[in-house]
Amino acid sequence: MNAAVQMVKVKKTYGKNITAIQDLSLIIEEGKIYALLGPNGSGKTTTVRILTTLASADAGEIYYFGSPQINKKMIGCVAQNSGVDPMGTGRENLMLQGRIYGLRGEALRERVHELLTGFHLLKDADRLSKHYSGGMRRKLDLAMGIIHRPRLLFLDEPTTGLDPESRADLWQTIKQLQREHGMTVVLTTHYMEEADELADRIAFMNEGTIVAEGTAEEMKSKVGGDTITIQCREPQIAAQILEPIYPTQQLNHQDDSTLHVITDKGAEKLPDIIRLLEEKHVTVNSIAVARPDLGDVYLLYTGKMLRKDGES
Ligand SMILES: Nc1ncnc2c1ncn2[C@@H]1O[C@H](COP(=O)(O)OP(=O)(O)OP(=O)(O)O)[C@@H](O)[C@H]1O
Ligand SMILES: [Mg+2]
Repeated sequence: MNAAVQMVKVKKTYGKNITAIQDLSLIIEEGKIYALLGPNGSGKTTTVRILTTLASADAGEIYYFGSPQINKKMIGCVAQNSGVDPMGTGRENLMLQGRIYGLRGEALRERVHELLTGFHLLKDADRLSKHYSGGMRRKLDLAMGIIHRPRLLFLDEPTTGLDPESRADLWQTIKQLQREHGMTVVLTTHYMEEADELADRIAFMNEGTIVAEGTAEEMKSKVGGDTITIQCREPQIAAQILEPIYPTQQLNHQDDSTLHVITDKGAEKLPDIIRLLEEKHVTVNSIAVARPDLGDVYLLYTGKMLRKDGES
């Protein structure tokens, strides 16, 4: 196997007592899309900053394509916050970025034209980018990140804040980069749908470390059953009632009205659950069975909920 990136027990602290990441180990295979999925503050950006050499690790080892050295021209990075100059046009932003990477003259103009075409920005190339939509600006960001044809591309929250249509459009673009250019893509996200749709492998991050790792299917099969979602006024009481039948790791109430139960043959168990709750005067507002999604797996490992698509 060719690993584009290998991290071994990497650690990073800020100041005296903020541990941003600890004991973080992972292997990212060449040519794959790899997602770091986790909520705010779980250490995703810190991991990307270390891998792109913008921050240094306190401990641990990192290898790129088998070597502890990194040729910076091999990597591209699109940061969480846009790097686009709003007072420049799309074309000007790209020209400047190209010059930073040593492109000049005809080669630079051709590369910029190629990117503007590939990212469907040609007709807006000479408008100020402050007038671009969020999706267009993110595409310009992406084009700037790959102007030097990196082998390894880091995308920190590539679609946060975008509407569903722009998000789907960007997903296609990212897949294309992998498929047509064999690029290895490492992205961070807090949207489980994004990781599910895009990534060949997913690492769940929680409090600075990876708590589970695998393909989306492997992850979902770790739940080992269906998820029953119960909406009721007193989920804590409902949890107490169901606890003798379903052990605590299969029960999780997160907000004031929702209880999740993980069980096999979920549909068959619904009537029994409703009966048990109603016997104890817990009013069930709604109850539904579904195959687990990545959010259920995350909940299983961390006791925390991931945001659903569209929530910010
Ligand atoms: N420059 C810094 N100085 C101090 N603490 C920091 C710094 N950067 C990150 N941290 C802390 O490290 C932890 C991890 O932060 P990080 O930005 O890596 O999380 P994240 O997963 O990218 O979150 P988000 O989804 O909000 O972008 C947090 O507790 C954060 O407060
Ligand atoms: Mg971040």
